[in-house]
Amino acid sequence: MSESLVIDDLIHRKQAAIACPYPIFAGLRAQEGVQFNADLGAWIITRYDDVRAILRDTDRFSSLSPTGPQAAGEALMNGIMQLMQEPEMAALLGSNTMTRGRVAVLLNADPPDHRRQRKLVNPAFRPDRIRAMEPTITEVALKLLAGVKQDLQAHGQTDILRTFTVGVPMTIIAIALGVAGEDLATFKRWSDDIVMPVGNHSPSVEQVRGFLISTKEFTEYFLAQIAARKASPTGDLLCDIANAQIDGEELTDDEQLGMLQQFLVAGNETTTNLISNMIRCLAENPDLQNRLRQQPELIEAFVEEMLRSEAPVGGLFRQAKVDVDIAGTTIPAGDHMWLVFASANRDECKFAAPDSIDPERTNVKDHLAFGNGEHFCPGAGLARAEARIALQLILEHLDDIKLASDNDFPYGDSFVLRGLTSLKITATPKN
Ligand code: HEM
Repeated sequence: MSESLVIDDLIHRKQAAIACPYPIFAGLRAQEGVQFNADLGAWIITRYDDVRAILRDTDRFSSLSPTGPQAAGEALMNGIMQLMQEPEMAALLGSNTMTRGRVAVLLNADPPDHRRQRKLVNPAFRPDRIRAMEPTITEVALKLLAGVKQDLQAHGQTDILRTFTVGVPMTIIAIALGVAGEDLATFKRWSDDIVMPVGNHSPSVEQVRGFLISTKEFTEYFLAQIAARKASPTGDLLCDIANAQIDGEELTDDEQLGMLQQFLVAGNETTTNLISNMIRCLAENPDLQNRLRQQPELIEAFVEEMLRSEAPVGGLFRQAKVDVDIAGTTIPAGDHMWLVFASANRDECKFAAPDSIDPERTNVKDHLAFGNGEHFCPGAGLARAEARIALQLILEHLDDIKLASDNDFPYGDSFVLRGLTSLKITATPKN
């Protein structure tokens, strides 16, 4: 079935293409590896060496539009034009809240601003800071696992996204930011709505409405939090961001808001998707599940293998600052490129038998699921710790994990952020 799918099916978010885009990528790698796609308005780069080289070259490639040329303005414009007919939405769109946080920060910044900003956030994600968070991650995962067990006992199955994999990263980032007492369901809604344009270049009016309302609520809430942290410091990540100074210069409010949006959005869905992918893989492969139970020392490598084989961020964009030559094709200055991490990670020239899951693959850490170079994901250590601890505890507390019989494996509506929205499993809870 999937052989007949083409790249436009993925870009137009056909579920079958999102569910299994890998044959499409393999086909592109086998052709030129560099192809212009009119619907995307960008060149698609699918081979490992090309993707990595572009990621590492911030002199010639800009990150100012990391989610693609259409993502920010054009994709939303249709919906916005329709919503302007509604007085309440017109007032919201006219307010200055909507432009707050729209500055080049981290993901969408270039040097020298980007380097200044990274210097500021990197200390919060140092290995010793992540190690110090491990007891909290364990505590959060154990609490959620108690609910998973209850659900299994009461219903014979559980939707592991609802009971576990959404909750782990959301709770951890809320604790790290210092807003754990708040309603996490609201944060989850903000996170889902704000990330919507990433990999969805033709949103519905209702999707645009959700995006606008959540952006407004997020902005108002976090501007108030920043002001409070400036008035009386609290020692959390939000406080670090609110009071950070580099060379005597403070971050602007808009830079702070942009950073907070990225922490909330970048870290949530991606980590949920990683943990869900691991659970599905083990439910489908009882031999591998048993092997990890017997050799828990392989869990760390298994996390990497899942990042490689099922990249939660399928790919991000860069823009050529000058004319560049990629694999023999000239890409003119100003053109955009979609760097497909999910394809690079299955490039047979880099990874032997790329479609199989091998927790002992020797070069697995070369995968590009967290990017590479200056924009390499600052949250990688945190995501890895959450995934490792979550899986260790799941294997310790649940025996015989299997897929429930009524799964239809729905995926989120994005060609960039690839993740299940529901995964029903059965398992035998251990005491
Ligand atoms: C499995 C989980 C995750 C995946 C797959 C992932 C993936 C990525 C990728 C591919 C990039 C590089 C972007 C580029 O080169 O343009 C990135 C950057 C980023 N990630 Fe993650 N991420 C994850 C978890 C997290 C977490 C937990 C956080 C924070 C709490 C986070 C925060 C960020 C930020 C702020 C950036 C922008 C960094 C920059 O541009 O300098 N991510 N992430």
